[in-house]
Formats: sequence, C-alpha cells, structure tokens
Amino acid sequence: MSDAPLLFTPLTIRGVTLPNRVVVSPLCMYSCAGDGMANDWHFAHLSTFARGKAGLVFCEATAVTPEGRITPQCLGIWNDEQAEALKPITRFIESMGCVPGMQIAHAGRKASHMRPSKGAAPLTEADAATGNAPWPTVAPSAEAVTPNAPVPHALTTEEIAELVQAFADATKRAHGAGFRVLEIHGAHGYLIQSFLSPLGNHRNDAYGGDLQGRMRFALEVTEAVRAAWPDDLPLFFRISAVDGSDDGWSLDDSVVLARELAARGVDVVDCSAGGIKGAPAFRTPVQGGGERPPGFQVPYADRVKHDSGVKTMAVGVIYDPHQAEAILTEDRADLVALGREIMYNPFWPLHAAEALDADPKHDMWPEQYGWAVKRRSQILGFKGLRAAE
Ligand SMILES: Cc1cc2nc3c(=O)[nH]c(=O)nc-3n(C[C@H](O)[C@H](O)[C@H](O)COP(=O)(O)O)c2cc1C
Repeated sequence: MSDAPLLFTPLTIRGVTLPNRVVVSPLCMYSCAGDGMANDWHFAHLSTFARGKAGLVFCEATAVTPEGRITPQCLGIWNDEQAEALKPITRFIESMGCVPGMQIAHAGRKASHMRPSKGAAPLTEADAATGNAPWPTVAPSAEAVTPNAPVPHALTTEEIAELVQAFADATKRAHGAGFRVLEIHGAHGYLIQSFLSPLGNHRNDAYGGDLQGRMRFALEVTEAVRAAWPDDLPLFFRISAVDGSDDGWSLDDSVVLARELAARGVDVVDCSAGGIKGAPAFRTPVQGGGERPPGFQVPYADRVKHDSGVKTMAVGVIYDPHQAEAILTEDRADLVALGREIMYNPFWPLHAAEALDADPKHDMWPEQYGWAVKRRSQILGFKGLRAAE
C-alpha cells in the first residue's frame, strides 16, 4: 500500500490524469491591451505555476463575448486570434507535465468596470479618455449590481440563446488552443450566477421564478458546452455555493444544482461563494457575515460532494500543505485550489511536496532546476529544510 500523500497522488478524470491535486484557481490579471489577447504577461504568469508543478493550471476568467469582460483588460476567447495567442501557454504547461485549464465566463451586470488596481468602479464616459470606454451590460433583470453601476439590459430569450451559443463557440476555441480541462464560471455574481440567484433574477418567464427556472440558463450553457467539449476531457463548473445572504442562493440549492450539472456531464463542482452583491467574491462575507478563517469554504465542497455524489474542488484561504492534505484525506473535496497563496509563492506545490515528504530528492522539480536545488540543500546543510538524501 502506498503511503504517498493524497495531495501528490495523481487523479484521473475521464481521459486526463492530473499529476497531483493542487490546482491554480482562476486569477484575473487585467493585463490585456483592450483586445482580449494573451500577451507576455499571461505567458510569464501561467508558466510560473507550471514550473512550480501545480497539477492543473487554470487561466483567468476568459470572456465569451466582448461585452462579457469585467474590465477592458480582461482576457477573451470570442475570436480565433485570441485562441491562437493562448497556444504557447498551453504548450508550455503541458511541457512541464501539468494540465492547462480554461475558465470561460461572462460578467453580466458586473461587466464594464475599471480594473481593481485602479479602483474597480463602474466605467463612465470620462474613462474613455484613458482607453476605458464603458459599454452596455446585460443581465437576467434590468437591475444594477450596485447603486453606481449602470442598469443592465434584461436579456430576451433570443439573446439568451445567442449567449448559450457563444459559450459553445468559446469551448471549441479553448479545445483548439490546447486546453484539456474546461471550467464554466457560474459563480461570483457574474451572468450565470445572476440567473441562478433570487437576488439577481426577477424574471417571470421560463428563465426565472422558481429554482428550476433560475437554473435553466446555467443548465442550457452546460449542455451546449458539454456537447462542444470532447467526451474524454473533464468539465468543471464553478459555483457560488452560497450568496452570503439569508434570502439568497443557499447551500441546499447548490446541492440540487450539482446533481443537475452531474447529470449533464459536469465532472467537478468548484465550490466558491459570494459575489452577487458586487464585491469581489474573495472579499464577500461568508453566510452570516464575519471572518474568513483558513479553509472557510471547505464545508461547501464537503456538503456538495457528499450530498450530490459529484467530485468537488475546495478553494479559499488554503495555504498550508498539511491543511490541504487533510481536506483530501478527510474526504471533504477531491481537489484543492489556491489563489492568493500561489501568487505569493508560485512554487508552493514543490515546497508542499517537500513538507509532506513526497519529494525528498527534489525529483518533482523541473530538470533544469532540480539538480541545482538539491545541491543548494546540501550546501546549506539542510538547515530548516528536509535532507535531500
Ligand atoms: C487577483 C484575483 C483574481 C481572481 N480572478 C478570478 C477569476 O478570474 N475567476 C474566478 O472564478 N475567481 C477568481 N478569483 C477568485 C480566486 O480564484 C479564488 O477563488 C479566491 O481568491 C479564493 O482563494 P484564495 O483564498 O486561495 O485566494 C480571483 C481572485 C483574486 C485574488
């Protein structure tokens, strides 16, 4: 029997084997030149995590239409040129033995905002002077996400069908660009979650009302994406497991949704939370408000996993290798995703492997670094580090 840590035990989903269970959570970089095209920054950013040997490296929320971008600097995949620009990234991630993942998204009524480093406010005509002209936003209902945000256009059923098609088209492009895992962004108050949540959806047609109606758009997108994504490749779906408000989307709703998603070929439900009221999800208070201690969203992944039977990914203030390992060994989730922690330390997986005794000889390191890092350990006399030999 192997006593290897579960975090560094491969996991096969459909035809894809992840070399370990550490996932780079999607992280918006707001670094395009207004054209949705990946550039040197995206390559440098994502390739670092592959050198750090995360099993699965997700790129940021990537818009399926120009209007679906959060900011003018967001990545897009609404044309073939954008897909082409992503190919060097997927090639490099593969060359490190890691798996490249794409997150497809539409920001809905949270589109047309300034990037966070410049204040994250809704764009106004005055921002056109700096190349950040606003654009009309869309949503299930004509209700602004915050008092200052523009009132979105309430989508017609024809427009909803066009957006479902945009998700399917983006899926084909993502496959062509070399991604081997796809995630639908159904969280954080963006378009799909604003249909799901009673706080964002006040329609009285087939796409609103009760839970079945509010889930309709998410499920239609899922069906179209699954049909466009090869059968042997895994499909993930990110949910906001709760809205953080008692009259909003609940964990019980998430269990129902997870079952419906699994029935339509979703392999992993990625359990995030919050965002429906406008704030970035990672700043939204948890249910009942208050603190976000380490692993605060793990209970969502745990509940969804056990009550729906679908694999889950846990995310949110996961920073310690033993904490991550415990989430898996206690069977609370199947994968762990890191965001801020892995930006702080892109080599987190390699350091975690050392901490968990999974890589005593630095064999997991890229060949170019491994021999030298091993020598470093010897020179330092293993001070503060585990012996390499
Ligand atoms: C800079 C930044 C950008 C993010 N961009 C995305 C994104 O593109 N898509 C998404 O689903 N979540 C996004 N998130 C949320 C993260 O994926 C993650 O769920 C969240 O940060 C919690 O994990 P952490 O505590 O390890 O950072 C972002 C978070 C940060 C800090």
